Amino acid sequence: MPPRKIIIDTDPGQDDAVAILLALASPAEIEVLGLTAVAGNVPLELTARNARMVCELAGRPDLAVHAGCDRPLLQPLRTAEHVHGRTGLDGPDLPDPTMPLAAPHAVDFIVETLRSHPPGSVTLCPLGPLTNIATAFRRAPDIVARVAGIVMMGGAYFEVGNVTPAAEFNIHVDPHAAAIVFGAGVPLTVMPLDVTHKALVTRPRNDAFRALGTPVGSAVARMTDFFERFDKEKYGSPGAPLHDPCVIAYLLRPELFSGRHVNVAVETASPLTLGMTVADWWGVTDRAPNALFMGDLDADGVFALLTERLARL
Ligand code: RIB
Ligand code: CA
Repeated sequence: MPPRKIIIDTDPGQDDAVAILLALASPAEIEVLGLTAVAGNVPLELTARNARMVCELAGRPDLAVHAGCDRPLLQPLRTAEHVHGRTGLDGPDLPDPTMPLAAPHAVDFIVETLRSHPPGSVTLCPLGPLTNIATAFRRAPDIVARVAGIVMMGGAYFEVGNVTPAAEFNIHVDPHAAAIVFGAGVPLTVMPLDVTHKALVTRPRNDAFRALGTPVGSAVARMTDFFERFDKEKYGSPGAPLHDPCVIAYLLRPELFSGRHVNVAVETASPLTLGMTVADWWGVTDRAPNALFMGDLDADGVFALLTERLARL
């Protein structure tokens, strides 16, 4: 079976970085056509820088990294340096990137890639705010039907929000973009906090990264050492939630995840619940199901997969 072609839309972010590394460590199953950076955890200049640093850490300076939207469609940009550090990739001491950004703009890259590949052959994997994806859909509506599917990290329902009582960061930063994407009719697979908060990098799991004895293993362990402090203090959890790697792990081993195909709508009007992903879990509305909304995972299986793949880099 040929590898699945994907575009990773990302706002690195330590957890984005681990997701990118997992994808690049799995070329037999995943062909990364390019990375598109978006403003989110930190401003665009830094997410575009960090994405290239991760590519070079993985030994892939050839991979195209495109800079995208530097702010949400309507909302002012809200970043998360308090979680990810000033650079967005605090923890490891990685060198500045030497690979240049690729032309064109990320939105044009998404449009051109979908138009130049057969319909249904490219999967979009957004790991941050959905600004680039929504802008591409608005600029080129013809590409929507060509998308094989979207497998994304974002949202929350039973787990409630992480930046407001109601909303998860990626959706809250650009709720209008999220509403466009959730309403576009593309098959969606969503990794919300409901499942990513069960993917915790406990001490033994982080020790396994460090025990790889490789630059990648060391860098990932140091990313987690930095990234975990916020969540451990806030939630009292035994480790950092590895949100974004759940997207790539699903592509590799979907059987490690379980969820329900339900309607998910995004709140874009209420100041109280802006960015909330309203999942009709019990089918009480007439809104058609539009997303496979994940609720559980085999965390040991995910970390065994992740550790085995990182060892390959
Ligand atoms: O809420 C978690 C999400 O927001 C993750 O994708 C993290 O990287 C940040 O983008
Ligand atoms: Ca992210």
